[in-house]
Amino acid sequence: MEVVKLHKKEFVPFLSSELIQNAIEAIADQINKDFAGKEVIILGVLDGAFMMVSDLMKRLKVNAELTFVKLKSYHGDRSSGSVNEVLPLTEVIRKKHVIVVEDIIDTGLTLAFLRERIMQFNPSSLSIATLLLKPEVFQDKYPVEYIGIEIANKFVVGYGMDYDGLGRQLPDIYVAKE
Ligand code: XMP
Ligand code: MG
Repeated sequence: MEVVKLHKKEFVPFLSSELIQNAIEAIADQINKDFAGKEVIILGVLDGAFMMVSDLMKRLKVNAELTFVKLKSYHGDRSSGSVNEVLPLTEVIRKKHVIVVEDIIDTGLTLAFLRERIMQFNPSSLSIATLLLKPEVFQDKYPVEYIGIEIANKFVVGYGMDYDGLGRQLPDIYVAKE
């Protein structure tokens, strides 16, 4: 893995694809145990979670439907919790075992918004799976059931995550160079 340049900003290797895949396998194993004999619906949060959704679903042994929601935080104030459903939730999640799949949870404000919206559809159960979580800044009142890797409060890109639109295609995760 080498230094990657996106919009003139440099990023250095942080988490290898092998580490990422191992973390996803552990999450899949746990979901397969917890939902054995049941059917789930994966709710991917676009855009960032598209790679995680794909790799996680390939490892699920429980029957799983798939749907997406696309959220946009209002710009300039990422931590305000003001979130917009660009591609809204639909009725398909009603009375199902919903598993939200996220690439990264930072403050948890986006998740808190999404959780409230999902609950309006009366799911049979709701759990959250995220590849990355930043425990230093996470402040939601509910726990996250499935966490791949906990990281420090640094900006990362790759494996679906972007810096101003770029970097999503990288199979590994990079961190902004100090
Ligand atoms: P929170 O949990 O604070 O996160 O509501 C809001 C959204 O911000 C994005 N995010 C990141 N994106 N590298 C990224 O590429 C990061 O380090 C990072 N931290 C937060 C992400 O879309 C998250 O859902
Ligand atoms: Mg996201």
